[in-house]
Amino acid sequence: MSRPDPNPSPKPPPVYQVRDLGKRYGAVRVMQAISFDLAAGATVAITGPSGSGKSTLLHCLGGVDRPDEGLVAFEGQDLLSMQNESIAALRRKKIASIFQFFYLLPTLTVEENIQFPLLLKEDPPTERRRRVKEMMAAVGIEHRAHAYPSELSGGEQQRVAIARALIVSPSVVLADEPTGNLDRRNGEIVLELMQRLIHQHATALILVTHSQEAASICQQQWVMEDGRLSGNSSSRAGR
Ligand SMILES: Nc1ncnc2c1ncn2[C@@H]1O[C@H](COP(=O)(O)OP(=O)(O)OP(=O)(O)O)[C@@H](O)[C@H]1O
Ligand SMILES: [Mg+2]
Repeated sequence: MSRPDPNPSPKPPPVYQVRDLGKRYGAVRVMQAISFDLAAGATVAITGPSGSGKSTLLHCLGGVDRPDEGLVAFEGQDLLSMQNESIAALRRKKIASIFQFFYLLPTLTVEENIQFPLLLKEDPPTERRRRVKEMMAAVGIEHRAHAYPSELSGGEQQRVAIARALIVSPSVVLADEPTGNLDRRNGEIVLELMQRLIHQHATALILVTHSQEAASICQQQWVMEDGRLSGNSSSRAGR
């Protein structure tokens, strides 16, 4: 029988601990009673009708919007009591976002866009160049390294956005309909790529999508309806 490890490595805290999150715009409640834990490296898809509050939830998890009620802890830290600079630092290093419309910087090349998040860290230039090359290869865009976003197809732009998101080895990727603006084939390519890289880097993922096929790349599928989440552990526990 194997002996117990005298120094077991401590279990990492959940990426997110969310409790009773709520938000309203005027009289309209767009999120209510949302509670869940997201473990390190876990992947979850959120589907649900248009206007049900999916993007609002992602914004609150990313610290770019504030709920009116509830708690969000990111890796054990209370996100809602953080100063803007601390949230900005988290968004540079730990919380990456991928969007439907890519949002690459139009005046930077592919290579420069992917490198951009690293300029805000203090890595030596040789390490930076190595990482950029590695990420360009991982998303198959090396041959367009010197192209500008306007010279790329939608699928290529999203591959650059994925490389840019993952280059800092974030703890979580928040993806809001990342295939929503792509044709079927490019959507599949982008999903396969996200799935592979997220797995390789043990990154957690929250994927908002209208596509059941896209949702199926995640370990868990949750549904948002009228601002309420179902399918997540706390709703199963009847809370
Ligand atoms: N800044 C705002 N002011 C007022 N209402 C807003 C604002 N942002 C969002 N809403 C409303 O909140 C609700 C939830 O919006 P949200 O964008 O989160 O939906 P969604 O589930 O992401 O929809 P979609 O699938 O169409 O992207 C909608 O009714 C929307 O009109
Ligand atoms: Mg949305």
